[in-house]
Order: sequence, then C-alpha cells, then structure tokens
Amino acid sequence: MSDKIARRALMGAAGAAVVAGTLGQNASAQAQEGRIKIIGFSSSPRRGMTTAAGVTVALDAAREHNPNIETELIDLADYSIPAQVAAGLPLREGEVDDFPEIAEKLRDPAVAGIIVGSPVYYNTMSGLCKAFIDRCGVFRTAGFELRDKVAGALAVGGVRNGGQELTVHAIQSAMMGQEVVICGTGVPTGRIGATLWNQGDSIEGDEFGLVTARGLGQRVAELALLLHS
Ligand SMILES: Cc1cc2nc3c(=O)[nH]c(=O)nc-3n(C[C@H](O)[C@H](O)[C@H](O)COP(=O)(O)O)c2cc1C
Repeated sequence: MSDKIARRALMGAAGAAVVAGTLGQNASAQAQEGRIKIIGFSSSPRRGMTTAAGVTVALDAAREHNPNIETELIDLADYSIPAQVAAGLPLREGEVDDFPEIAEKLRDPAVAGIIVGSPVYYNTMSGLCKAFIDRCGVFRTAGFELRDKVAGALAVGGVRNGGQELTVHAIQSAMMGQEVVICGTGVPTGRIGATLWNQGDSIEGDEFGLVTARGLGQRVAELALLLHS
C-alpha cells in the first residue's frame, strides 16, 4: 500500500470514528440508561388488520434480536390525527386531536427506533400515514427531536407487486425530513424495507414478505443498539 493510500485509509477510519462518536453522543443523550425502545406504527384505517400484523412481526423480531429491547405497537386507527394542523390550521368544530398523545410517546428518551407501516393505497402510503408523518413536523420545528433515531418502513399491498416498494420509498423520503437514520432489511436480504402481500386479509402465507418484515425488525434493533446503547 502506498503512503498516500495508507494515509487516506487512516484518515477515513478516523473520520468514521468521529462520525460514529457524534452519532453515538446524540443517540445516547436521548436514551435513558439501559432502556431501548422501538415503536411500530400501523397506519391502516382498519384497526388490527394486515398492516398491524406486519408491524407486529417486525417488532417481535426486534425483541428476538435482543430481549432487552422494549417494543410498542401503536395502531393509528385508534387515533384522530387531523392533517390540517400540520399546516397551522385550527381543528374543525368538534374535531379531536390525538396527535399530542403520540408525540409524548415518541418523546420518551428511550425510543431509539421507529417502524412506520402502511397499507399500499394506489402505490403510496395511506392518508393516515401521511397525516401522521406531516404532524411529525413538530419534532423538526422543536430542533429535530427525532434526529438519529433509526427508522424503517413497511408496506402491505393487496397484490404481490402492488406498489409496496414505492410505498416504502415514499415513507422513507418523507421521514428523511426528520434527520432519522433510514435503514432497510439488513444482511442477508438487503431489501429497501418490508414488503408484504395481503392474501385474504392475512399475511401468514407470504413467506417472502415475512422474511422482509423480520429482517427490518432485526435491522432497526441492531442499529438502535449500535447508536443508542
Ligand atoms: C383505497 C385503496 C387503495 C389500494 N391500492 C392498492 C394498490 O395500489 N396496490 C395494492 O397492492 N393494494 C392496494 N390496496 C389494497 C391494500 O393495500 C391491502 O388490502 C392492504 O393489505 C390493506 O391493509 P390493512 O389490511 O392493514 O387494512 C388498496 C386498498 C384501498 C382501500
């Protein structure tokens, strides 16, 4: 190895250490001692259906990766998330806003990772998913409070190739506004995210999709531990 190449390799390693250190500092400042939590969001308006099932598979895999990781499934079908509030508009008469309750959960310093799951609606995320992500703008305004949290995306469609990858990509793009650390399904599958196929309101027979959901959960857990413990 020439001197120049050796020097460059050394500087690269030092740079990586500095970057890892900075990320680690931000991350560990957010995590309470010993507690690491991953929250999974299901954003189908249909409570407890295939999107919730897919996110549950990912969360289970995260806990299998390390049993010290706490997980919570938040089924957004249970919450009223008025989208117009993100644009500074008031609630309509009688309208309820449950987003502050969700924001409080996300502000738990132990939260090191999030998994955002959506049904595929015409090749992209559901309106509920977008309303949720838009409302997450409050974290950005408050100084990028979600910065360095690990984020993975999951999509469930009614057909095998119904736009799951487009949906995952759309979620990831929108979440990048929060300075989160986006991840895919990790080694060995190396997919963009979890892509599941709903067959008769069940994901049980979708072997490929289940592998991606488990991979995503493990990868979010792995990176959450790396950056936050
Ligand atoms: C408005 C709407 C649009 C949909 N668009 C698509 C689509 O583009 N591609 C697809 O594969 N499935 C599509 N579906 C099917 C859903 O993605 C699928 O049933 C999904 O599993 C629903 O999630 P859930 O069981 O959690 O409600 C659509 C369903 C609805 C209601």
